[in-house]
Amino acid sequence: MIKNNKLAFGTDHAAYKIRNTVKKYLQRKYKVYDFGFFGYTPCDYPDYAIKVAKAVVNKIADKGILICGTGIGMSIAANKVKGIIAAVCWSEYTAKLVAQHNKANILCLGSRTATVNEICCRISIFLKTLFEERHTQRIIKIKKIEEYKY
Ligand code: RB5
Repeated sequence: MIKNNKLAFGTDHAAYKIRNTVKKYLQRKYKVYDFGFFGYTPCDYPDYAIKVAKAVVNKIADKGILICGTGIGMSIAANKVKGIIAAVCWSEYTAKLVAQHNKANILCLGSRTATVNEICCRISIFLKTLFEERHTQRIIKIKKIEEYKY
């Protein structure tokens, strides 16, 4: 069973034009906690990545959705938070695999690399795809990296 009722949602200025369309699409099925950014003037994507990441690790939300220009900056920032697996997807297929193989709890997308329809479709696939337990050992090894002393 997938328990993805609650979503944490965050964007930067690059996603300004599409953020409300994506948010409305998500609100048809999910409770959406919107952490901004609400303006169109330049902002710093790590500020929104951390808000969404914290909501996910603190279990306020089941999953997170982050959108910047490419999805890359958001994923780099969110992955600094212990307990987060943030993944960029660039197709329907990779949106499915980050859930199925990588157990991602945050999906990152690019407003400059995909249409709003593609973004909504990829999010929908990500949220309905189950993790396959046969990949568990790899996820455990990723989690252990968070505990290493260098
Ligand atoms: C902002 O111009 C841009 O750098 C940001 O949205 C994102 O694409 C970073 O990875």
